[in-house]
Amino acid sequence: MTSNDFLKVADAGSAAWAPDSWQNLVAAQQATYPDTAALEQALTELGNLPPLVTSWEILALQRQIAEAQRGERFFLQGGDCAESFAECTSTVITNRLKVLLQMSLILVHGLQMPVVRVGRFAGQYAKPRSSDTETRDGVTLPSYRGDIVNSPEFTPEARIPDPRRLIQAYSCSAQTMNFTRALVDGGFADLHHPEYWDLGWVEHSPLAEEFHRLAESIGRSVRFMETISGKQAGSVKRVDFYTSHEALHLHYEQALTRKVPRQDGYFNLSTHFPWIGMRTTSRDNAHVEYMRGIRNPVGIKVGPSVEPSDLVKLIEVLNPDREAGRTVLIHRMGASQIEERLPRLIKAVKDSGHPVLWISDTMHGNTESTADGIKTRRFRNIMKEMELAFEVHRDNGSRLGGVHLELTGENVTECTGGARDLVDADLRRAYKSTVDPRLNYEQALELAMLIVRKHNQS
Ligand code: PEP
Ligand code: CO
Repeated sequence: MTSNDFLKVADAGSAAWAPDSWQNLVAAQQATYPDTAALEQALTELGNLPPLVTSWEILALQRQIAEAQRGERFFLQGGDCAESFAECTSTVITNRLKVLLQMSLILVHGLQMPVVRVGRFAGQYAKPRSSDTETRDGVTLPSYRGDIVNSPEFTPEARIPDPRRLIQAYSCSAQTMNFTRALVDGGFADLHHPEYWDLGWVEHSPLAEEFHRLAESIGRSVRFMETISGKQAGSVKRVDFYTSHEALHLHYEQALTRKVPRQDGYFNLSTHFPWIGMRTTSRDNAHVEYMRGIRNPVGIKVGPSVEPSDLVKLIEVLNPDREAGRTVLIHRMGASQIEERLPRLIKAVKDSGHPVLWISDTMHGNTESTADGIKTRRFRNIMKEMELAFEVHRDNGSRLGGVHLELTGENVTECTGGARDLVDADLRRAYKSTVDPRLNYEQALELAMLIVRKHNQS
């Protein structure tokens, strides 16, 4: 962000806020709808639909984040890079929830502290793109901006932004949320018993013995708890589970931004935890303007080019009252840059005295292309950045309080490496993501176990 950009943010921050005040600023990464009347109609409809989450859930999440800021919890955020309407299915939702809850159990047990569980789903339908257009074989079309805007097929019809997709995104989010709530409400025993987990990959890991011991010990603890309480794990009151997405499509976010009885201010009731993506934090003041006025906790993606003083100013605009549990900084530096870029940021934020939670997105700084032009991420780089994140925080008198991951419960082959050591040639076998490569079920569980290992060494 240039300092000039920043002055605009500071100016915006001092003026009155309203759910639509972002419209006075330039909004990057927005779709251009050819039919503006149809857009207005869809937004009116959205504005009348019921919320997807409640204000008291949002405030409960904020309290959990405040605990994480004090070092009493670990924050786990994970899910798809981009959800798709076609994958709003029972299997995909169940498997994704399963892997996240299994990871959280590994973390609770291994770190001996409660975990804040946040899914990257039930609304993760809008994507920032590096270019407004895409060219293939001499044909140029508008870029795919996520299912909330257009369709990924490379045809002129598919790429036209369609406002009806806003309603479809809302309804897929509502269906995903509904099923997720039912699943976490109890009875889903697979989540709690490692004997039901698919741990076949462990044999292939050099740390097989350590992982087996961890899984056995989780199993013993769960059985012990069940014996003591006389209740099956999973039948007890539901676990807390929250949702998140990138607050990118500002018309959509505005339509779900509401006042609620007996609370001050406005809440974004489309999700518990919206975050600002790297491309709109640094260049786009409209997103910052929108986010500063809502009461939800907010995430800020922090990339390698952010200057420490700009980050502190941004935090001040977004959290002028220094509320605990409001600000989560999601750094995504890449394994090769984190040691150089992160220490100065940690120091500046520390000196500012702002309460923040630092978490590490070890996916987005480690994206690369294979010789065949397939977008991938190498497990060893993801792991390397994770290890360095723990170390850099420790060495700078700070604490890494959580992780942000792109993952799926499906057996995809999108990231290489891991215990089974997937290679570039495996990527063709089961590559399903329309945007970024995700960890598969096994890689995600392996990473959770490696996080425990590293955290306890730090
Ligand atoms: C994302 O989280 O999918 C993403 C686009 O990240 P970033 O804004 O950090 O590039
Ligand atoms: Co992504």
